Amino acid sequence: MEKKYQVPTPQDFSLVIKDIFLRQKEHKGNRANNNIVLALQGDLGAGKTTFTQELGRFLGVAETVNSPTFVIMKQYEINYEDFDRLVHIDAYRLEDESEALPLRLKEIINRPHTIVCIEWPELISSLIPEQALGVKITIGDGEVRTVRLESSSR
Ligand SMILES: Nc1ncnc2c1ncn2[C@@H]1O[C@H](COP(=O)(O)OP(=O)(O)OP(=O)(O)O)[C@@H](O)[C@H]1O
Ligand SMILES: [Mg+2]
Repeated sequence: MEKKYQVPTPQDFSLVIKDIFLRQKEHKGNRANNNIVLALQGDLGAGKTTFTQELGRFLGVAETVNSPTFVIMKQYEINYEDFDRLVHIDAYRLEDESEALPLRLKEIINRPHTIVCIEWPELISSLIPEQALGVKITIGDGEVRTVRLESSSR
């Protein structure tokens, strides 16, 4: 499956976010149904953190979702359908995958009832589950972003 969206402003990420949840409902019955992992790919400044902020807003997160670059990971309590936690991981500062071990990222990423956003997933590729949804953000003319949703399974 691949789907493409034009995202001229940060608020327009909501189109992509709504589609992700629609798609998730269509897959009810899957074992991994109550765990969504979004692998956010894109250059520096593409909009990965901004996407996660819009997702936080959509999910009703009360606090501001800030970039977790220096702390690697932040977790937010949510109450949205079957989900109770939003996790925001930024792997940019990890020197290698072994640094992720003490952070228990594997357990955190695979936890049920959890939505996980991962910036720079290519740096922790062995921790990205098979059913993760790729969210590829590119910048075009006039700062307009294009988002491609890609799932490996279907
Ligand atoms: N869809 C969009 N349309 C216009 N501007 C955007 C959009 N998404 C993000 N921006 C702007 O791009 C800038 C960088 O965004 P952001 O910090 O989210 O990038 P990032 O991919 O997280 O970068 P990094 O790899 O450094 O973490 C911000 O100023 C943000 O407002
Ligand atoms: Mg970022």
